[in-house]
Amino acid sequence: MTDAPRTAKLTFDDKELDLPMYSPTAGPDVIDITKLYAQGGVFTYDPGFTSTASCDSTITYIDGGKGELLYRGYPIDQLAEKSNYIEVCYTLLYGELPTEDKLIDFERKITTHTMVHDQMQFLFRGFRRDAHPMAIMCGVVGALSAFYHDSTDISDPEQREHASIRMIAKIPTIAAMAYKYSAGQPFVYPDNKLDYASNFLRMCFAVPAEEYVVDPILAKAMDRIFTLHADHEQNASTSTVRLAGSSGANPFACIAAGIACLWGPAHGGANQACLEMLREIGTVDRIPEYVARAKDKSDPFRLMGFGHRVYKNFDPRAKVMKESADEVLDLLGIENNETLKIAKELERIALEDEYFVSKKLYPNVDFYSGIILDAMGFPTSMFTPIFALSRTVGWITQWQEMLNDPSQKIGRPRQLYKGATQRDYVDLDKR
Ligand code: SDX
Repeated sequence: MTDAPRTAKLTFDDKELDLPMYSPTAGPDVIDITKLYAQGGVFTYDPGFTSTASCDSTITYIDGGKGELLYRGYPIDQLAEKSNYIEVCYTLLYGELPTEDKLIDFERKITTHTMVHDQMQFLFRGFRRDAHPMAIMCGVVGALSAFYHDSTDISDPEQREHASIRMIAKIPTIAAMAYKYSAGQPFVYPDNKLDYASNFLRMCFAVPAEEYVVDPILAKAMDRIFTLHADHEQNASTSTVRLAGSSGANPFACIAAGIACLWGPAHGGANQACLEMLREIGTVDRIPEYVARAKDKSDPFRLMGFGHRVYKNFDPRAKVMKESADEVLDLLGIENNETLKIAKELERIALEDEYFVSKKLYPNVDFYSGIILDAMGFPTSMFTPIFALSRTVGWITQWQEMLNDPSQKIGRPRQLYKGATQRDYVDLDKR
């Protein structure tokens, strides 16, 4: 007796449908509704996709209730402590931790692709100096397809691989160039003697007028921030990359779309908005005023860096980030960082407040990251570009998985139409 496949029975009007059900290796079971419209003549309705799985994936898993995050099965806290970003990139891309030989080969590939076509520097001149670096990154990353035609044929696995290496290798260079341009300083070329995080710090903070030596402690903190932001299931920007990729758009256009989506303050823009909020609060005694505003339905203000669609427990990345904040500020000799003090007191108050407890609102990855980046010398406008830099490996891995899925087809959601039914045109003189 073979196990009959599990089904969900759906009955409505005069119909009774048996919809297939599948069980994952972790997380909730799913009901397959791909045939629902054909068999039942109805759509499902789920704005914001709160209960909808858009794909099957083997890359990242989040347990929102437990506050767990796994990259290819490896817990984020173990990777943050024991691994490094280049090894995390390899593991996300290829599914397994690399052997030493494979890691050396992969790192060499990335290192030797860090420069961008030298003519790209002229693209930056089209922007005002006060342009937000995210605006520049959207434009320049999209323009990569105009310089790297030989890795835009998505039907060619070799070109897909080449585009993936190029994206991971060049995104720090582009982010650093966006920063230098907005700071009015000359671009700094990559230095292949340096590791990924050190290279980025040097491209951001070195100036031709003097020697720049990377602080290994800052490089390690930078590398850890990259790791914590590398991937996160089907979040808004990853879903944007997948949807853009489903039409056959070239990889650089898809990553540019992801960058544009990440910029929103409800998503990756929250790290900048959170530090600006902490600065606006200014002193610990003003925290209750802002907590009251966050709870007031008539006030659009929300506590930036708090809450999450999936985590209904502590975001594990926020825990690691909080430890790093203490470590980095201490190592930088930044005593009594008022912003960190406000953040910790705000966290304490919010986590005791019934409103936040009942809605399971905890600090997320963006709550502490801005404090570290600020202490490292980055302006708030560079916080989201650093998030985009870190997430590029996740986006490109998810893009690859989508294209390798044999059931992949163009994403095209339907709608619950509430507009006018058909009516005849009325001539202007009769209106
Ligand atoms: C990221 O998806 C990902 O994985 C994203 C990300 C990733 O790595 O890719 O983790 C990165 O984007 C982290 C989130 C960064 N954003 C912020 O910190 C902005 C502030 N947070 C909120 O805007 C909100 O919490 C979201 C957008 C993060 C989640 O929104 P949801 O899931 O749609 O939840 P919701 O808006 O329906 O909120 C549920 C309730 C609401 O109240 P009720 O309507 O039930 O009365 O909680 C309230 C909200 O008003 N609420 C908040 C709040 N977040 C939610 N109230 C005050 N302050 C907040 N921060």
